[in-house]
Amino acid sequence: MKKTLLNILNPLQWIKAYQFHQANAKFDKSTYDLELYLYSKVLKSDMLHYGYFENIDIAAEDISLKAIEDAQIKYAQNIIDLIKNKDGLILDVGCGMGGLSGMLAAENLKVEALTPNINQKNHIDQKYNGVKCYHTKFEDFQSTNKYDTIINSESLQYIDLDTAIAHVDHLLTANGQWIIVDYFRHDTSGIEKSGQILETFKEKIAAKGWKISYFQDITLNALPTIKWINMYAERFLIPLKHFAFEKLRYKKGWLYYLTQDLRNGIDKKMQKEFAAINPEKFLKEKKYLTFVIEKN
Ligand SMILES: C[S@@+](CC[C@H](N)C(=O)[O-])C[C@H]1O[C@@H](n2cnc3c(N)ncnc32)[C@H](O)[C@@H]1O
Repeated sequence: MKKTLLNILNPLQWIKAYQFHQANAKFDKSTYDLELYLYSKVLKSDMLHYGYFENIDIAAEDISLKAIEDAQIKYAQNIIDLIKNKDGLILDVGCGMGGLSGMLAAENLKVEALTPNINQKNHIDQKYNGVKCYHTKFEDFQSTNKYDTIINSESLQYIDLDTAIAHVDHLLTANGQWIIVDYFRHDTSGIEKSGQILETFKEKIAAKGWKISYFQDITLNALPTIKWINMYAERFLIPLKHFAFEKLRYKKGWLYYLTQDLRNGIDKKMQKEFAAINPEKFLKEKKYLTFVIEKN
């Protein structure tokens, strides 16, 4: 306690703490997304999406890690089955850990991948060295290539919609397919704002004169994973946080007292994050959808 108190009272430490804060505040979420990093450590499929469960009635308690990985592979296979031109060039936008690109390459399809996240790019370069991976946001991506298929697998939600549409217009061949699998918001009242707004998305596609050649609502197929994450949050993470805070209260009461605002901030952040994985809220506010969009 003495050393911590001395640090808190030392003005030099305050200057260093401020400099440290400034340096770390510059961090860009898309280059190092902590939530995605966490999921990549839990699941070994190299996929960072909710997957596709054929058994939509499975209870969260009965889901194994293997079942989630299998659902993720099924989701990726569903995307591959939608690709019309299997000889053409494919761009996997927001490729995550490279699982889908890896499956495409294993089937001898020509695929390039793109991510702004340097850890993901390094992982792909090491593990899937047949896959060319660009390190960039889609908004900043420039290429002289034309792609026959552009895929956004749970990545469109991170990208400015107008820029995404303009880039797809430029990069996709005239008869190409834009395959999007992601969740969209149809009710915008919730505190959790991830996902493009469905109506806006449809309006912008219609305004371009593009057609939706395939559509599937897979909300119920993705929901088991959301229920599973929610179960771990409620039965593990929240009790663990309570345990840690209470330990602090009994072991270092003075620090517990001084960090009340910090703890309130953590509670607020957790409330917002958990809103994204609350199955009832998800069903009320979002839809997990597959679209295939064609220009002609
Ligand atoms: C939920 S993960 C999905 C990863 C992968 N497509 C999959 O299905 O496993 C979202 C991906 O989008 C990427 N991403 C975030 N912002 C992006 C941007 N502006 N442009 C392109 N990709 C982006 C993330 O780095 C991550 O790779």
